[in-house]
Amino acid sequence: MPSIYATATGKVILCGEHAVVYGAPAIALPVFQVSSKTSIFVKPAIVQGAVTILAPNIQLNKKLDEIEAATPYSVAIRLVKEALGVSRLPSCEIHIHSSIPLGAGLGSSASVIVSLVRALGLFLGHPLDNETVNRIAFEAEKITHGKPSGIDNTVISYEKPVFFQSNQPIQLLQILHGFTLVIADSGTSSLTVKTVSGVRKRRQANPDVYDNIISNIGEISREIKRVLQTAELTSNGSLLTMNHNLLTQLGVSTPKLDALVKTSLDAGASGAKLSGGGGGGNIIAVTEPENAAKVARELEAHGAVRTIITTIPAAGEQV
Ligand code: PMV
Repeated sequence: MPSIYATATGKVILCGEHAVVYGAPAIALPVFQVSSKTSIFVKPAIVQGAVTILAPNIQLNKKLDEIEAATPYSVAIRLVKEALGVSRLPSCEIHIHSSIPLGAGLGSSASVIVSLVRALGLFLGHPLDNETVNRIAFEAEKITHGKPSGIDNTVISYEKPVFFQSNQPIQLLQILHGFTLVIADSGTSSLTVKTVSGVRKRRQANPDVYDNIISNIGEISREIKRVLQTAELTSNGSLLTMNHNLLTQLGVSTPKLDALVKTSLDAGASGAKLSGGGGGGNIIAVTEPENAAKVARELEAHGAVRTIITTIPAAGEQV
């Protein structure tokens, strides 16, 4: 059966999560060790225009007509058709798979949609550019996350380190020295929409305190951007740990995330923080490459359910 497919990476947020929702900058990085894949199979024998979506990760096996109009999948499909001036998809089966754990801050929802949008463009004979993919994925992310900043769909659409600020042009970062991150999953999944709304409520009750924390996080993101462009992040890891402490003050860390941060520092990482929405999900630790396996081992010995070691290359270098 003829088929086409497209993939998309995962991501981590290096710094600035939550503050980015209030206009502060944040930095996100693609993670190539996890990914989503959408394959589209032409089904000429079945009813004209019949489209079935199969996504075993979320137990979905439905005809597109039976899926509500306002789900991320149906919104993405409608917007791709609109972008390409296509009124109807040819009969097909759309298979969506992802190795990205749900609710772990690794960008599973955005990644799945980016792979779907890319695959649909190819299927319809018009590969979509990154800007269009990103625009459509952002609309789908709004269904999943309520009021997302757009950082996840941006880093995954461009597959490059990105310095992101709402309503500002996207800045792809030129990193001077590559660095190594250990990503460790706390094993507790958490809904970003919940932690984001928790911060919103606490900020409403206490605007001065929260705006001060948000502005300090923004300063750290600007400083990390400067370090990435001019120096070594590994020698400036304490900036990540400072960011973690501010996220704790925002109320999005947990005792387990705090413990995993401490474990990484005890194992020789130069800095560590929760990454993403918090309330569970992952921490990241920056460390010398030769120490990464030790940090990962210690994290697993102290409760991480899985670890990923990833290298972010300098601009122009391959992983
Ligand atoms: O999708 P997550 O869990 O990596 O979190 C995204 C980052 C937040 O700043 C918490 C939310 C957002 O919309 O930017």
